[in-house]
Amino acid sequence: MHKLASRVEQISPFHVMAVLERAKYLQSKGFDVIHLEVGEPDFIAPRNVSEAGCKTILEGRTGYTAANGLPELKKAISQHYFDRYETVVEEDRIIVTPGASGALLLMASLMVESGDNVLMPDPCYPCNRHFLLQCGAQAKLVETNAVQNFSIDLSSLDEYWDGNTSGMWLASPSNPTGAVLSRDYIESAWKEVAARRGHLLVDEIYQGLVYDGEDFTALSIDRDIFVINSFSKFFAMTGWRLGWIVVPDWAIEGATKLAQNLFISAPSVSQYAAIKAFDKESLKECEARKEEFSERRNTLLEGLREIGLPVVAPAQGAFYVYVDVSGVTDDAMAWCLALLEEKNVALTPGADFGVKDAHKYVRFAYTCDQERLQEALSRIKLFINR
Ligand SMILES: Cc1ncc(COP(=O)(O)O)c(C=O)c1O
Repeated sequence: MHKLASRVEQISPFHVMAVLERAKYLQSKGFDVIHLEVGEPDFIAPRNVSEAGCKTILEGRTGYTAANGLPELKKAISQHYFDRYETVVEEDRIIVTPGASGALLLMASLMVESGDNVLMPDPCYPCNRHFLLQCGAQAKLVETNAVQNFSIDLSSLDEYWDGNTSGMWLASPSNPTGAVLSRDYIESAWKEVAARRGHLLVDEIYQGLVYDGEDFTALSIDRDIFVINSFSKFFAMTGWRLGWIVVPDWAIEGATKLAQNLFISAPSVSQYAAIKAFDKESLKECEARKEEFSERRNTLLEGLREIGLPVVAPAQGAFYVYVDVSGVTDDAMAWCLALLEEKNVALTPGADFGVKDAHKYVRFAYTCDQERLQEALSRIKLFINR
């Protein structure tokens, strides 16, 4: 008898996979499917990064690097924090990882004991729960709502924080809601968490993609806050599998030990190439794409309002809008599948991100051009009015 570890059973599959599979099938049959379910930019790495990647391979710089990352890349990341966010982040506090996913696994391994729980908002990025599970710990989802911008009500923390709570994980901008947390909010969250002797992690993977509100780093608030980031989103380098975590001074040694053991090193080609992500031309390219995202966001918010699906939370960042469809269905998952079947528009059901109101929500990712977005909106309008 073959038996998988029992923790595998606790990992829920992504519902969006059912959508994606069906979307691919329909496409293979010649249907014109519009993909608004995909959580990755429809752009590729900046030109200088791609060129540097090719050069790195041809020059054979393809071996392991230092476990916590190439010193030149860490220097560039540190400089970026200073130039763009006026924040001093010493290079030795930066550990380069295989994507933010690697950083999340490292974070869970570094800070969470077996039997612990970690607070996070409902809805949030689903893999967080599963990284904790690998460490024998659990996510404890805290109810939020659109009116409060899907952020945890800090005055209710005592209801959720118990003897086994080790900390709180937040993300700003957020996946799936696009919500951006304010500086005041992060300061208050840190105050509450520190008072309870917990750790605070802020996932800043969508940093740079803020259209409304302050684009800042939680590292500017306190050097004991953990921050993770990645080249996947602003730099459009999802498949390069490169991210990083910034840890407090007292955690550098432990984090380095874990990085050595979990990863040996992040991909070397990606690391050499990513140094070029911070040069002037690359940043200009990324800024232009941010503008494009911003225009798409306006189109989507306006279009959703027109078709009777108003967005309550402002979705100030990332490339997502989390939309309440309870006015037109009582089962968002079934609605997504029917929309795909009848109008060939693919969305992600809320069930992938949360529990409480998941059946009411769908996530739109504006990762396709304006024309396709407009077309998707027209199809959804027809679908609702059918
Ligand atoms: C909030 C959040 N954190 C982390 C990740 C992992 O990203 P990656 O491993 O590509 O850097 C994602 C991916 O979509 C995400 O949305």
